[in-house]
Amino acid sequence: MTVSRRTVILAGAGGLALVGAGAWWRVARMPKTASDPWNLAAAAPTDVRLDALRHAILAPNPHNLQPWRIRLDGDDAAMLYCDLDRRLPAADPFDRQITIGFGCFLELARMAAAARGVEMRITPFPEGAPQGDREGRLDARPIARLVFAPRPGIPTDPLFAHVAARRSNKEAYDLTRPVAREALRALTGNGLDWRVRGTTNPRFVEPIRALVLEALDVELGTARVHRETVGAMRIGAREVDAAPDGIALLGPAVEAAAAVGLMTREALADPGSAMFEAGARQLRACHAATPAFLWVVTDRNDRLSQLRAGRVYLRANLAATSLGLAMHPVSQALQEYAEMADVHARLHRLLVPEGGHVQMLARVGHGPEVPPSPRHPLDAKLA
Ligand SMILES: Cc1cc2nc3c(=O)[nH]c(=O)nc-3n(C[C@H](O)[C@H](O)[C@H](O)COP(=O)(O)O)c2cc1C
Repeated sequence: MTVSRRTVILAGAGGLALVGAGAWWRVARMPKTASDPWNLAAAAPTDVRLDALRHAILAPNPHNLQPWRIRLDGDDAAMLYCDLDRRLPAADPFDRQITIGFGCFLELARMAAAARGVEMRITPFPEGAPQGDREGRLDARPIARLVFAPRPGIPTDPLFAHVAARRSNKEAYDLTRPVAREALRALTGNGLDWRVRGTTNPRFVEPIRALVLEALDVELGTARVHRETVGAMRIGAREVDAAPDGIALLGPAVEAAAAVGLMTREALADPGSAMFEAGARQLRACHAATPAFLWVVTDRNDRLSQLRAGRVYLRANLAATSLGLAMHPVSQALQEYAEMADVHARLHRLLVPEGGHVQMLARVGHGPEVPPSPRHPLDAKLA
C-alpha cells in the first residue's frame, strides 16, 4: 500500500492515529456511540456522585484503558478500585502511570462535585498503598474512598469549564507558532503547590526532543512493549464502538486499509512491515514537531506522589485547553523497563539534575482540532 502524507498511521507507545489534512474526522466515518460520555450537556444525574463520576471518566489515562471500577457506598460515598486487567505491565511495570491516571480522575471528580456545591473528600488508599517505587504493583485494595458532603459557598474551579474540550492532542504542532512564555507560566502555576516546569527555549527544547525521539525508537524496538500497544488499538469505527477504549484508529484510510486486510494487528506489530515503518516515521515527525515541553516532578515516587502528579497534570492540561494550547503526554522516556533505563537516566539528569522523579512529560504547542477519544459509559464502570 502506498501511504501518503495525508493518510498515514502513527504507531507507538503513545498511540496510533490516522493523521489527515485538517479536521478529517468531521467527514470520515466516525464511531456512533463511543463519544457519548463527552456529552456533558445531557441532563446531570440528581445523585452528585454520579455527576462527579461522569466527569471523572473523561480523565486522561494511559493507552485509554480506563482502569476505573467504582462502587457506590451508602448515600454519600464511593470506593474507587483499579481493574487490574486494564494495566500495562510491559510499558508500566510498576503501575506508576496507571496511578497517575487515577490522580487525573480524582481531580475531575473533585471539580465536578464542587461545581454542584459539594465537597468531595478523598482518602487515598484507605486500606494501605502498595509501594510505588519498583516494589509492589497495585492490588485489589481500593485506590480511594470518596465522601461527598454539601458545602455551601465552595467555589467552582475556573478550569472546570474546559473539561469537555480537553484532549491529548497527538498531532504535529505548528512550529511557526511558538508558545508564549507567559502562557507556559500559566500552565505551570496551576493552583497546586507542586513542581510543574516547562520550557519554550529552543536550546532546552532541543535536547528534550532528542531524548523523546530516542525513547520512541527504544519502544518501537522493544517487541513486548510495542505489542502491548498494538493490543490496545481499535481499528476502525466499528471496533471503537464495540470497545470504546484503547487507541482509536479512525479515518477513511484506516477503514479502507482494514477492509482489504492491510491494516491488521499483525502488520502493525511487525517491524518488517511497511505499515509499521510508515507509522514509525510519522510518529517521529509528530513528536519532533514540538515547540515546548512541560513536566511534572515529585520528590518521591510513592503512590500518593503519583496520584498528586496526576491531579496536577490534569489541571495543566485543562489550563492549556483554556488558552487554546494543545498538549500531549510523551511518556516513553519515563518508563521503567530495562531497555529504557539509559534514556530514563539521561532525561532525569537533564530535567531534574537536583534530583526528583519526572512523573509526566508533555508536548505543548498549537495543534489542529482533534476529536474526543472514546469512553465507556459510566454505567459500565459501576460495580
Ligand atoms: C500517565 C499518562 C501517560 C500517558 N502517556 C502517553 C504517551 O506516552 N503517549 C501518548 O500518546 N499519550 C499518552 N497519554 C495520553 C493518553 O493516551 C490519553 O489520555 C488517552 O488516550 C485518552 O485520551 P484523552 O486524553 O484525549 O481523553 C498518557 C496519559 C497519562 C495519564
